[in-house]
Amino acid sequence: MNDELLELAVALARTAGAATVAMRLEAIGTTTTKSSDTDPVTEADRHAEQLITEGILAVRPTDSIVGEEGAGVEGTSGVEWYVDPIDGTANYVYGIPFYAVSIAAEVDGNIVVGVVYNPESDELFTATRGGGAYRNGVPLSVTTNVPLGKALVGTGFGYKPEDRAVDGAVVAELLPRIRDLRRLGSAALDLCAVAMGRFDAYFETGLHVWDYAAGWLIVEEAGGHCQTVDGGQPSPQMMIAAHAPLAKDLANALKLAQETASVESRVGTD
Ligand code: IPD
Repeated sequence: MNDELLELAVALARTAGAATVAMRLEAIGTTTTKSSDTDPVTEADRHAEQLITEGILAVRPTDSIVGEEGAGVEGTSGVEWYVDPIDGTANYVYGIPFYAVSIAAEVDGNIVVGVVYNPESDELFTATRGGGAYRNGVPLSVTTNVPLGKALVGTGFGYKPEDRAVDGAVVAELLPRIRDLRRLGSAALDLCAVAMGRFDAYFETGLHVWDYAAGWLIVEEAGGHCQTVDGGQPSPQMMIAAHAPLAKDLANALKLAQETASVESRVGTD
């Protein structure tokens, strides 16, 4: 069954990706904002999500779907899809060729298929539970034995100004303790960057499940580990991804940085 779900996810990611590129090149559609004044959404996001939703339901009419742009289908089959039609919408709007279609399938509570497709670079990242992770068919592995001080770490920031103030304070604490930091603008592709060793690690707070569901499986199938600061399963509160020992060290450093950042912000408001 995983292979069938994978085949469907790949086909829909390619279709949706081609549609988003075409709409960008033809400058079709308008940009509005969602959760804050800086959180963009375009007609291409909505159109791509519709293509994916209709494509799933055409073949699997009893599946459930949760999509970033509002798709909410409650099915009965036990299969649930998480869809982000354009992860990295700000990059998309500015013409930065680093965004992706992200599609994951969960069966009875376990993510079993993850597909992340960057239609600009034609990079297709895929994973099935127990079947490994691949970039355009080539197997992926995370970096290993990298100490925190030598780690290239990716991150991202949500759209709410009050959260960004905390994110900034945490980054200020962490930066002297790592090799360097990157903010590329697509959580799904950031996770794939960990899976293929372009990053040693990644972390972000405030993601949504559609941002990270596919990338999470791709990291794990590439030999990596995803967790929160306390070692639990990744959640919208925190996603840390790396080879397990580095994920643990990064989690400890982030915990300390969060504590210091919140003490300093309390002192600052006295
Ligand atoms: C965003 C991107 C970004 C991350 C934000 C996400 P969107 O997704 O993944 O890198 O920092 O937290 O919301 O809104 O472009 O689908």
